[in-house]
Amino acid sequence: MENPFSLEPYTTKENFCDREQELKDIVSFLTNGSNITLISPRRYGKTGLIFRTFEELRKQHYTCIYADIFSAQNLDGFLKILSEAIINSLKEDSLIKNFFIALKNVRPLLSYDPISGIPQISFTFQLDGQKTLTLKSIFDFLEKQRKHIILAIDEFQQIRDFKETNIEALLRTYIQQLHHVKFIFCGSKKHLMTDMFTNAKKPFYESSRTCYIDRIDSKKYGVFIKKSFKKAGKVIDDEAVEFILEWTKRHTYYTQFVCNRVFAESSNKITLDTAKRVVTSILRIEAANFIERRNLITDKQWRYLIAVAKEGSISQPTASAFLMKYNIGNSASALKLLKALVEKELLLEQSDLNGKSYSVYNVFMSRWMESL
Ligand SMILES: Nc1ncnc2c1ncn2[C@@H]1O[C@H](COP(=O)(O)OP(=O)(O)OP(=O)(O)O)[C@@H](O)[C@H]1O
Ligand SMILES: [Mg+2]
Repeated sequence: MENPFSLEPYTTKENFCDREQELKDIVSFLTNGSNITLISPRRYGKTGLIFRTFEELRKQHYTCIYADIFSAQNLDGFLKILSEAIINSLKEDSLIKNFFIALKNVRPLLSYDPISGIPQISFTFQLDGQKTLTLKSIFDFLEKQRKHIILAIDEFQQIRDFKETNIEALLRTYIQQLHHVKFIFCGSKKHLMTDMFTNAKKPFYESSRTCYIDRIDSKKYGVFIKKSFKKAGKVIDDEAVEFILEWTKRHTYYTQFVCNRVFAESSNKITLDTAKRVVTSILRIEAANFIERRNLITDKQWRYLIAVAKEGSISQPTASAFLMKYNIGNSASALKLLKALVEKELLLEQSDLNGKSYSVYNVFMSRWMESL
């Protein structure tokens, strides 16, 4: 029996836990003319949710395109990824041909990755101005298909790193002119994403409904875990399920990973002891990675991280009791450490009605640091 706790963003509906309300909301917004912005910390399940959404939308005859622009450094890279994503989703040869005709000015060249068989495109730009025109041509091509198209751009915050200056405004202008193409913008850098979409001075302001993806409900996750083991002929005790959910802080990837390992390392009956044994072995293996990270930050930053890990989560990062307990220094230096660690994505900043709180981003690292 295949491990039901897949570590890929999305495999099947059966292996995907909940997100039913989010799915309903997203589908409803998209099919009624809104664009959607998905924001959550890393590894909560945004990309998985995009693929889950695509599955529903395809049933309603939408053409769905997924472009992950994480590796794009500039407009060239963006155009390449976007074009490859389009080619990948256009199954008919005649459409692919039309796409190439639409972009003929920049002489697109198609090749196939020898191993994966995935189509790859390269362009020849003679002038910089051709790049923005190509972007426009790509969107015009999609609009002209007279189909309902959903284009998901994952790691959208990346466009802020492009060396070209006005991409955000340009994209906004083009996107606004499209009626048959709706967008899912997705990203994990919350301050960047919120700035793009909720700052009145920024081009994308109010151009999309923002959907914050939270942790999966603990009851629902518990039921899902039990059911997944059961389907594979294994029984897991309630205490073991509760332990996994608590220990992984319900951060989806980590929860999923622990379940994956418990599945792999267990007989047909899983107890609390099995679960504890598995997390110990995960930390034993991961420790080497954490020690490597130790070399990339300063002593003070390292000590601050450990302090946060030991507290689990802190809401007053400069409170004198906390600083004294861990011998951190004054509140000004604590603030500096905090900022640097959030920037490096070693600390996760989250806000709710009570204000902001901080925890070690990597849950395994947090659990490991607790024991130092
Ligand atoms: N609803 C879910 N049910 C089960 N597993 C899930 C679910 N959502 C996500 N996962 C698991 O969590 C992991 C992270 O999911 P995903 O890659 O979608 O997160 P993400 O938010 O896009 O992360 P990043 O910001 O790093 O791109 C994957 O391994 C996936 O298997
Ligand atoms: Mg993702």
